[in-house]
Amino acid sequence: MEVNKIAVIGAGLMGAGISYISRASGYDVIMTDLDDDAINRGLARLKGYVEAGVKRSKLSPEEGEKIVGQLVTTTNLTEAVSDVDLVIEAVFENMDVKKKLFKEMDGAAKPHTILASNTSSLSITELGKVTNRPDKVIGMHYFSPVPAMKLLEIIVGKETNDETIQTAMEVGEKQRKITVKAIDSPGFIVNRLRAQIGRAIYQIYEQGLASAEEIDTAMKEKFGVPMGSLELADFVGLDVSLGTGSTLEKELGECYKVPEILKKFVKEGRLGRKTGKGFYAYEDGQKRSIDEPKGADPDRLVTRIIMPYLREAMIEFETGIATKEDIDKAMKLGSNYKEGPFETINRLGLDMVREELKKLQQEYGHCYSLPKMLQ
Ligand SMILES: NC(=O)c1ccc[n+]([C@@H]2O[C@H](COP(=O)([O-])OP(=O)(O)OC[C@H]3O[C@@H](n4cnc5c(N)ncnc54)[C@H](O)[C@@H]3O)[C@@H](O)[C@H]2O)c1
Repeated sequence: MEVNKIAVIGAGLMGAGISYISRASGYDVIMTDLDDDAINRGLARLKGYVEAGVKRSKLSPEEGEKIVGQLVTTTNLTEAVSDVDLVIEAVFENMDVKKKLFKEMDGAAKPHTILASNTSSLSITELGKVTNRPDKVIGMHYFSPVPAMKLLEIIVGKETNDETIQTAMEVGEKQRKITVKAIDSPGFIVNRLRAQIGRAIYQIYEQGLASAEEIDTAMKEKFGVPMGSLELADFVGLDVSLGTGSTLEKELGECYKVPEILKKFVKEGRLGRKTGKGFYAYEDGQKRSIDEPKGADPDRLVTRIIMPYLREAMIEFETGIATKEDIDKAMKLGSNYKEGPFETINRLGLDMVREELKKLQQEYGHCYSLPKMLQ
């Protein structure tokens, strides 16, 4: 199906980014939010992206002016969705809020309009159920910052039809994103894998086996991540990490339980950089270590941290959530990892991964059991 006009619902961090890349790829865009203040904040962010694009010679000043000048904004949802081919929703991550919105949008949009959600972890199938067009409901999961991150996860609900999938992928490609396809399931590809890295790291910290600095240095130097995982968690906000973790725990059960340390920190208001303290302390924008080194061996640390993540990638593949190629691509483009999990498995060898997982299973139980491909 040809898409000319897109409505973006929510002018926050993600909505402003999605509006920008859509306008920059030539789509007519109508951006909406609850009130003028929110729209103005979104517009300011979008103008910032335009200025950065012009500065880096990615856009001419005329193109920049056209992106902003021809962007339509409104606080009226019905007006926003009544004459578009595709809606991309990017409001708060709350199922009740999104369900209410999808019901309203279904009533106001034309029959051919595709309704997409940028949700990070909520069920696309559930959202489809509140509409009379579940075949035209899909997930388009962009990564932040939207203009810079190349990945777009296309999330296929139980009822989503092929034309909807094809159209969402074509829009993503026109927006210069690289698309991967995932079956609707909690956390999709990347967030579910990242959660396993997070769980391992929080557990190690909780058990006092390594300091934040030791964990981050090991992951950077021995595994090649661009930013230490705890530093990144502090940057994103520990409340956000807890939110994703809690959804996974609720949907997938005990093996996805959020470590107590994360709940404790959030309860204490220790949310990371934005509150001045998380796994590190922050003063005048400078990070400072607040725990003593424990003398942890960096190689052992990395092995302990990545094994549950490699196991999870195998489970995603074995349960048909995505192909190995898409899982690798998603982690490299969505998390800036040097290699995807299946590339890591190939590098380390199946025997090594099997032996390490067996050790973890002996120590911590069935949540580290061997996936089928290692049995
Ligand atoms: N922040 C990220 O890194 C990230 C990454 C990928 C996906 N997401 C997902 O994108 C969505 C938006 O996240 P965000 O970080 O942009 O949030 P945000 O808080 O920056 O923006 C949300 C915006 O939605 C508006 N809004 C709320 N209810 C609305 C309604 N009924 N109608 C119109 N506007 C409404 C709010 O006023 C706000 O401006 C969430 O589902 C989130 O999980 C976020």
